[in-house]
Amino acid sequence: MASSEGLTLHCLILALFIAFSKVHASDPPLTLDYYKSNCPTVLDIIRKEMECAVLSNPRNAALILRLHFHDCFVQGCDGSVLLDDTITLQGEKKAPNNVNALKGFRIIDKIKNVLESECPGIVSCADILTVAARDAVLLVGGPYWDVPLGRKDSKTAGYALTETNLPTADEGLLSIIPKFIHQGLSVADMVALSGAHTIGKARCVNFRKRIYGDFVATAGLNPLSQHYLSNLKSVCPPIKGSDNNESAMDYFSPNLFDNSYYQILLRGEGLINSDQELYSSVFAVETRKLVAKYAENLFAFFEQFSESMVKLGNITNPETYVNGEVRRNCRFVNT
Ligand code: HEM
Ligand SMILES: *[C@@H]1O[C@H](CO)[C@@H](O)[C@H](O)[C@H]1NC(C)=O
Ligand SMILES: *[C@@H]1O[C@H](CO)[C@@H](O)[C@H](O)[C@H]1NC(C)=O
Repeated sequence: MASSEGLTLHCLILALFIAFSKVHASDPPLTLDYYKSNCPTVLDIIRKEMECAVLSNPRNAALILRLHFHDCFVQGCDGSVLLDDTITLQGEKKAPNNVNALKGFRIIDKIKNVLESECPGIVSCADILTVAARDAVLLVGGPYWDVPLGRKDSKTAGYALTETNLPTADEGLLSIIPKFIHQGLSVADMVALSGAHTIGKARCVNFRKRIYGDFVATAGLNPLSQHYLSNLKSVCPPIKGSDNNESAMDYFSPNLFDNSYYQILLRGEGLINSDQELYSSVFAVETRKLVAKYAENLFAFFEQFSESMVKLGNITNPETYVNGEVRRNCRFVNT
């Protein structure tokens, strides 16, 4: 009796421990030289493929960076976002927060193909995506950082978690911050990582409310921002058919990874609501200071962004320690 209660209590404590250590990448640590002996060319191969992809279209850098973010915020960086729907598996791609908004899967397929012929069965899709995101940033002018490796791919996807974990454009600061804290990231990480919006585009459906709403209140009535606003309104008229029309989030240098995103926020001209909130929300006390700092100091932004990207990539899925794999095809669990 007593010993079985003791055991139950012990299990409970263990379960609680596992539950609370979920987001911290302790268990088998990631390492910089993980593939050194069994796939020494992995970084060169990914770099070369990303060079081709970004050279052919700089937008591809943004697509891959966002894919990595959406992978890591849903059951950790485990390649779950890459899984296609099958009869037995509901992927994340068709979830409301992802559908029509994630692209770049074929770039990952291409890299995986090359790696499967070079070192079959060795490099996980989750690691490929993490390294590809780093290279994407670097190739459009952003900072370099070393990427810890050794992630395993999941055998499951997290459709429901896309709804609870992923931040959306119309959300305010007070609901976005907890989503980062939940992943073990800080407010400073959130502000720096949002700087990813210095590249890439948003669809009208994600900024319509903003441009017909408080844009004028944050940007003021100066001729330049009025001109910008009227352009945005012509790309994004208040009719349903224009939902997928796109506009750059950093209109100043849309294909360059720099700090002009933050300078745009200082002028109150952020395209999506969640971005402008970082500077203009009444709760933006700490975040406003960081926005101003990064707008002024490119180096400070690059340093924090690099560190925060490693933290983002460190979010693990503990399930993959016991039940993960190296997928042969990033779209499907191995059979
Ligand atoms: C802070 C919370 C965030 C919110 C609310 C948010 C929201 C969005 C939205 C609404 C879009 C436009 C998508 C579309 O219209 O199809 C977008 C695009 C993008 N996001 Fe975020 N995001 C956030 C954080 C991040 C982070 C942390 C990263 C990466 C580190 C990131 C990388 C990107 C990139 C690169 C794009 C452009 C994708 C493209 O060109 O297609 N975002 N984001
Ligand atoms: C990321 O994880 C690696 C190993 O798992 C660790 O050495 C490193 O300190 C972590 N970095 C950050 C910024 O959390
Ligand atoms: C999409 O934007 C273009 C301008 O870039 C505009 O001419 C067109 O009318 C828009 N499409 C819709 C359906 O609103």
